[in-house]
Amino acid sequence: MRNNKIRIALTKGRLEKEALGLFGEMGWDVSAFSDKGRRLIFTLPGAQIVLAKAPDVITYVEHGVCDLGITGKDMIMEYGGRYFEVADFGFGRCKFALASKKGERENFFEGCEIKTVASKYPNVTRRFFESKGMDVDIVKIEGSVELAPLLGLADGIVDLVETGATLKENGLEIREEIADISARLIVNTVSMKMKKPEIDGFLRLVESKTQEKVK
Ligand code: PRP
Repeated sequence: MRNNKIRIALTKGRLEKEALGLFGEMGWDVSAFSDKGRRLIFTLPGAQIVLAKAPDVITYVEHGVCDLGITGKDMIMEYGGRYFEVADFGFGRCKFALASKKGERENFFEGCEIKTVASKYPNVTRRFFESKGMDVDIVKIEGSVELAPLLGLADGIVDLVETGATLKENGLEIREEIADISARLIVNTVSMKMKKPEIDGFLRLVESKTQEKVK
């Protein structure tokens, strides 16, 4: 049985850097991460941090082996699951958008033919087109989704857009913005009760440092 120290699953990569910056501002010593090599678990005075791939953060929190998770709203929208979403960190900001080739299909929703849409996020894509009352074929792609319309596999893509550089450099344009995305804090439903004081303490610290970053 674990002690009462909270264990946080942190998404590796972009969100990791931002979260470590925040932990530093909160007064946590994150120096162990500067030369982390291939290590995946770090025990700090305030919490144990587990580095995980984005979809696995949700799995570890749902199963209760991690009390908290730091993950993108994109993952929450795509995978759902049983946990509480309790805070918006205000970093990792980007958008879900529908895009297609420049000069083509400017009104993507026009016409009767069934269009093909490529995405790393088939559930988000399906719900978006359902909300439009439009039937589409969805192709799951694992990365660099922008390739799919360029290679003729898809008429459009649903993907994350941050600066817009990837779309621009590949001759694609946004047809509709779908949702605003940022990093969120999720909490296991049992931990929320069993470790309430520790989780509340962490939340207060986070909120004191992130308020100015969330509009
Ligand atoms: C993400 C996303 C876009 C790109 C958007 O991909 O899927 O491809 O970033 O960023 P931009 O608007 O600033 O150009 P990521 O870099 O995570 O790689 P992936 O496509 O292999 O998943």
